[in-house]
Amino acid sequence: MDMAGGAGVRPGCQEAEMRKLLWLAVLLALVLLPLGAYVRLSQAGLGCPDWPGCYGQLSPAHAAAAIERAMQLQPDGPVSPDKAWKEMAHRYLAAALGVLLFCLWWQAWRQAQRLAMASLLLLVLLLQAMLGMLTVTLQLRPWVVTSHLLLGMSLFALLLAAARRAQPRVAVLPAHGRLVTLLLLLVLGQIALGGWMAANHAALACQGFPRCNGQWWPDMQFTVTPPAWPWAVGTSVALPAAALVALHWLHRLGALLLLCVLCCVVGGLWRYPVLRRSLCLLVLLAGLQLLLGMLNVLWLRPLPLALAHHVFAMLLLAQALGIRCRVQPSACWHGLRAVRRRAFLAGRMLPRAWPGRRSGAQGE
Ligand code: HEM
Repeated sequence: MDMAGGAGVRPGCQEAEMRKLLWLAVLLALVLLPLGAYVRLSQAGLGCPDWPGCYGQLSPAHAAAAIERAMQLQPDGPVSPDKAWKEMAHRYLAAALGVLLFCLWWQAWRQAQRLAMASLLLLVLLLQAMLGMLTVTLQLRPWVVTSHLLLGMSLFALLLAAARRAQPRVAVLPAHGRLVTLLLLLVLGQIALGGWMAANHAALACQGFPRCNGQWWPDMQFTVTPPAWPWAVGTSVALPAAALVALHWLHRLGALLLLCVLCCVVGGLWRYPVLRRSLCLLVLLAGLQLLLGMLNVLWLRPLPLALAHHVFAMLLLAQALGIRCRVQPSACWHGLRAVRRRAFLAGRMLPRAWPGRRSGAQGE
């Protein structure tokens, strides 16, 4: 009987099986997340106003009569068969990802292998499902939409990090490790700002690039009543134009800050040759993301470009996390542990040559 769980299956095969599941989950997430953005951008977020079904049914086809009634009541409203199918397609894919991650967890549990990772992924997915429900039931409140976006992108980045073959860690100076952590946090912050701006419909509040509505420092309003910030209530709260400008401008300033920190990270880590390929990819992704952001502004956010901006945010976060995992301070910590272990081993061999080491002898 195999102690790892699967009778007669070698650990290497089990690892390969899990990796296959993980890659499948990565591919699914790569479709699921942009589909979610597409649902939002095509105003289909409330295509089915309840959750998890559509008017309590399994599919919009089963709910045709209810959808018809909703359309009669509100011909230009958020409900139509088309929108309902988009929304439900997103939910079906999310459910498929849930099943995949549950299988992964089950396998990890049976084989007692990578259980912490599988549990974390499942937990994030469950939280994400809860936020998905709140997105619909609380009618697209900006803080829910933003959290849903941020957690979804984090899930994708975690999936990719788990699916990739573990690469050797690189011991870097602690300051460099902290710089990479800062970059990762800034990417997360920038994604949150982007989602927040998109959820508040502020994408077109600033016309032109690099200036906003012809100004270097546009008129902005940072406080509004009721509060527009993460705890803002309901989609019905139309923010004043100057508050929308503030949201948009913050996203641009965030990108500028991110660019500065990225330069420092690349400048700092370039001295480690094994990291250079990853750094080049990071710079490429960030450069394309900035370009897409600019083009979204200049061309008034055409759907394909808005989706591409979404996809590149996912990839950028995944790459930043990948680098963070390789240079994490544990690399230094491992080094420290190795030194301690050597000292300990040396200490064990020392007693005879080092009388002071024997406290017992001193007491005798
Ligand atoms: C590396 C830097 C950037 C990151 C990580 C980033 C990330 C994001 C994210 C995650 C969204 C929300 C997308 C969605 O909800 O589907 C977004 C929206 C947006 N971003 Fe960026 N962004 C960056 C830079 C920029 C720049 C430099 C600009 C403009 C100059 C820009 C313009 C926009 C616009 C107009 C939207 C709204 C699109 C929409 O409504 O779907 N972004 N950004």
